[in-house]
Amino acid sequence: MLERYGHGGDLETASSLYGRAPDDFVDFSSNMNPWGPPEGARAAMLRAWERVGAYPDPAARALRRALAERHGVPMEAIWVGNGAAEAIDLALRAIAPKLAAAAAPGFAEYETAVAHAGGRLLDLPLSPDDGFRVTPEAVRGAAAQGADAIVLGHPNNPTGRTLDEDAAEAALDAFRNVVVDEAFLDFSPDEERRTLIRRAAERPGLFVTRSMTKFYAIPGLRLGYVVAHPDEIRHIRGLAVPWSANGIALEVGAAVLADREFAARTLAWLPPERAWLAERLAALGLRVFPSAANFLLVRLPEDAGTTAADVQAALGRDGVLVRSCATFRGLDASYMRVAVKRREANERLLAALAAYFAERKESMRG
Ligand SMILES: Cc1ncc(COP(=O)(O)O)c(C=O)c1O
Repeated sequence: MLERYGHGGDLETASSLYGRAPDDFVDFSSNMNPWGPPEGARAAMLRAWERVGAYPDPAARALRRALAERHGVPMEAIWVGNGAAEAIDLALRAIAPKLAAAAAPGFAEYETAVAHAGGRLLDLPLSPDDGFRVTPEAVRGAAAQGADAIVLGHPNNPTGRTLDEDAAEAALDAFRNVVVDEAFLDFSPDEERRTLIRRAAERPGLFVTRSMTKFYAIPGLRLGYVVAHPDEIRHIRGLAVPWSANGIALEVGAAVLADREFAARTLAWLPPERAWLAERLAALGLRVFPSAANFLLVRLPEDAGTTAADVQAALGRDGVLVRSCATFRGLDASYMRVAVKRREANERLLAALAAYFAERKESMRG
């Protein structure tokens, strides 16, 4: 199974499964911005290398200052760490929930982080019939079942659906402790209107987690942050390992954040390319769920006589990686997730899928 370690983007596992070199795949199983990393990242990395003999700033001040300015919040409301995965882990350890509600399907690390914090997960079941919407009723229902925290993806992974305002309000009304994972929200042209970051800086118990690895395509460097009330951030700082964001990541982070042209180019590219890919996938008979992120959740046709794992293996041998969603709570073997990449790569995915379905049809007939 490609998701041996619970995630997409595992090129070492792909290499051992499909007999190709790790860099001989077009990877649709993890969701990086195909236009990145931005130009200035390499120079920033080399600048940081000159100072690699010194400790990085333990308070990550330059990057926090830049993020504070970007989001219009005080820098005391920001903690920077080693990717959103660490940000989520620390937010949940700060909350220490006994029972935390999270959408099913949702990002697998929520369950791990809740377990690290000593709690259990309560599934908030989502349905394909309404496009995997988190409803205010379901949020209130989770509180009524005794959940003392809620974790929500905005947008959610793997569905790509953003949190509706009424569901966000219901969560803030029903729970003191709310984690909103905005790892992919920077791919939305209306990010500024939709983000809960400004709320988080003022409202104790609301933690917004952010990733810089996806939009800027630097997952190998690891960089993410939490925005919360300054008292909560002090608590997080007390729990964190010092220098968790390394000096190279901090320098690159500040450089890429300043590159507004890169951001504008990405935001102009994504909506039309995503719509184009969705249309072509639907033409192959797949059900495509609407997404605000740089990935699409798709469902195999009922009469396909195949599973996401079969598709994944066939395409993998062909050098194309997709994410089977069978490991997501609340989904089954008929779901897959694919990243939106550049046109040439998207065409390669579509051709591989078309060839696979044609072959299946042929063998079912024969
Ligand atoms: C929804 C979601 N949140 C957070 C993360 C973690 O991101 P990072 O690479 O910044 O740790 C991921 C990574 O796949 C993700 O899909």
